[in-house]
Amino acid sequence: MNLQPIGIFDSGVGGTSIWKEIHKLLPNEDTIYLADSKNAPYGEKSADEILNLSIKNTEFLLNLGCKIIVIACNTATTNAIAYLRKTYDIPFIGIEPAIKPAALNSKSKTIGVLATKGTLTSALFNTTSKNYSEGITVIDQDGEGLVPLIESGKVNGVEVRNLLLKYLNPMIHQGIDYLVLGCTHYPYLIPVIQEIVSDKVTIIDSGEAVAKHTKSILEKFKLSASDQLSKHQFYSNKNADELKYFLTDYEVSVDFLDF
Ligand code: SIN
Repeated sequence: MNLQPIGIFDSGVGGTSIWKEIHKLLPNEDTIYLADSKNAPYGEKSADEILNLSIKNTEFLLNLGCKIIVIACNTATTNAIAYLRKTYDIPFIGIEPAIKPAALNSKSKTIGVLATKGTLTSALFNTTSKNYSEGITVIDQDGEGLVPLIESGKVNGVEVRNLLLKYLNPMIHQGIDYLVLGCTHYPYLIPVIQEIVSDKVTIIDSGEAVAKHTKSILEKFKLSASDQLSKHQFYSNKNADELKYFLTDYEVSVDFLDF
């Protein structure tokens, strides 16, 4: 048994979609969530910048005694997880676009991936995509502009819809039947996305799979908490209210942190 918290970081508010799945599956675990919103979007930064920010976030969470770190950001995972695993002596859980289940289940043999430029250009993404997509056409699309809108609480409305139409229409015309969301911010857009792609396209995000993986790693390393009432601390280095907006149904503490 281990009562230290699970650390979770993201470039901003999007990783709360992952936190919700983790909390649902592991309600007794304490968590500390760091939203590095001041530096969002990571997807437009260089690989070196993403790595340095990921190191800074990791050290912050380690100083607060986290027993495991979930990188709740596809862009940070694809650019930094190998280095973090090599450098720090705790388990790291990352988020990778769920290309494998989409490719395995696609009947049209054409799938779409909506992710940031930082994810789509990473070596890890390209290896994963190649490994799982034999005989499948994968249409990648950079979701440029979506993360800043979501960071400011805009998850629907004209701006969001117009960008999504521009990004998704070419995929629909090429016959995708699966759409992989390769950014933890994007699950907040699912209602608008589903309306655009219709029910002929299945949308896949990684939240539930990441929560299950986190549980299995905690069990494997005997790091699970017992039946305690859990506590949750959220920090944003930009705007605590914007982060709180994504957590309205939860009794959690959300604070600004000059970080
Ligand atoms: C971003 O900060 O650009 C998006 C984060 C992600 O890839 O999940």
